[in-house]
Amino acid sequence: MKTLYLKSENENTPSIAAGILKDGGTVAIPTETVYGLAANALNPEAVAKIFAAKGRPQDNPLIVHVQSLDEIPPLVEKVDERLPALAERFWPGPLTVIMKKSALVPDAVSAGLDTVAIRMPSHPAAREIIKACGFPLAAPSANASGRPSPTRAEHVKEDLDGRIDAIVDGGECAVGVESTVITLATDPPTLLRPGGVTPEELEEVLGGIEISHAVYEKLAEGEKAHSPGMKYKHYAPKAQVTLIKGSFERYEKFLKAHNEIICAVCFEGEGKNFDEYIEYGRAKDSLTQAHNIFDVLREVDAKGYKKAFVRCPSIKGVGLAVFNRLIRSAAFRIIDLGFDIPVYGLTGQTGAGKSIVGEELEKLGLYVIDTDALARKAVENPEVINQLKEAFGEDVAPGGMPDRALLASRAFACEEKTKLLNSITHPEITRLTIEEIHEAQESGAKAAVIDAPVLFESPLTCLCKKIICVTADEKERLERIMLRDGISREKALERIKAQRSEEYYVSKSDIIIRNSDIDDTRDKTVKIAREELL
Ligand code: TXA
Ligand code: MG
Repeated sequence: MKTLYLKSENENTPSIAAGILKDGGTVAIPTETVYGLAANALNPEAVAKIFAAKGRPQDNPLIVHVQSLDEIPPLVEKVDERLPALAERFWPGPLTVIMKKSALVPDAVSAGLDTVAIRMPSHPAAREIIKACGFPLAAPSANASGRPSPTRAEHVKEDLDGRIDAIVDGGECAVGVESTVITLATDPPTLLRPGGVTPEELEEVLGGIEISHAVYEKLAEGEKAHSPGMKYKHYAPKAQVTLIKGSFERYEKFLKAHNEIICAVCFEGEGKNFDEYIEYGRAKDSLTQAHNIFDVLREVDAKGYKKAFVRCPSIKGVGLAVFNRLIRSAAFRIIDLGFDIPVYGLTGQTGAGKSIVGEELEKLGLYVIDTDALARKAVENPEVINQLKEAFGEDVAPGGMPDRALLASRAFACEEKTKLLNSITHPEITRLTIEEIHEAQESGAKAAVIDAPVLFESPLTCLCKKIICVTADEKERLERIMLRDGISREKALERIKAQRSEEYYVSKSDIIIRNSDIDDTRDKTVKIAREELL
């Protein structure tokens, strides 16, 4: 189908758009939040076209848009007594209210639920089009399902050109994130999606409200969503997004510790510190962040970045909406660099005796993080499993769990494949390690120690105040590996040769522990810990 382009300032636009909608067609319209893909809310066939064009899951209900309060009574079982006060304060504007629905609302709109979501937008073009139609409009955000919501007509074109009847271009959306969704069908009312209207503002009108935990975090496996839209991966560009919490200083250091191209998605004035960056608003101004965020997520793809590290916004006021969208675009991948305890690195060649040093440090109250164990855990993360399947074949994770032997045989077949495996698993190992630093802090440990054989190749080095390296003669290492892993001399030698030289380790470390005698190594460790680490 050919998509018609209409400018909102053209005086015929409302009647042309309304004509298409009366005929059961689909029109993308500007609203103050994001662009919506509209159809006649009372016509199930028209509504079905919305789902088809977006590729939207059938169980995700749509918001019904009205332009006057008179349109509401026929849509609901009963007008909630709190609605007039909400309407008075927030409508027209970025608030959606859920109430028990009437029989007039087709199941296609409510996705089989017994409630309906209603909103009165303030954008003049949206209001004029609804008025010209004479019926309410069902309209989800006008993006392809899963993609960032559109805040400019070009975004709609990118996703839906040729799939819908028309696009009305009304310029940039003022708010930039979708409406706040609150349900009056629970007691107290529950905030299902944060947006331009803040929880604090809603409380002023409604008294106490609940905030659905799905606003902040992933739903538990099998948990039923209050708002079906919250269970899907959402707002995601093609690039992998990671949300980074903590000071700018740590963010900068951490990003630069990666030896790959990563786009810094940061606040105004911070970009100059990076080669590759996009700024998404002022640090202490959630409104500018909301206004820009979806546009910026699309820009990350347009510029061809594969990865983006996004500075975590404050979750106060409208910031909660920005955070909620970002955490979903990041598939809940968040790294919190805001820990206070010191972190040390512990490394060394295989068989040198790292674990003896680790044991002693643990006895002294330091929390040792075993990155080998985290490497095994990393390949069990569902997002990682999806990437592994894509890279190495569906059969590497039968029933959703990795077949480690098969994965190893494919990934270690050549250097390129090994690199590919590392590029998938290392970021997750890094994230899990940092999560454990927080666990260390919560457990009351005096410091965290990252025990990692390949620490210097990892961005984790930038978090380490000091790095301890354990060394031992090759002959002794050889014996230890043979004994520990029950392998032949040849195999053990092969492993040793595959590693970097002792000089490499020593030159990059701050503290060297030469391990020639176990008891002596234990004593040295205690002394070093007392003098330099605690
Ligand atoms: O700002 C907005 O709200 C935009 C503009 C176009 O108005 N619309 C929008 O629609 O964001 P959509 O479909 O992308 O998001 C609607 C959200 C979804 O998460 C959906 O699951 C939820 O509202 N929703 C709709 N009806 C619901 C209901 N009856 N009960 C619970 N959640 C509902
Ligand atoms: Mg949407």
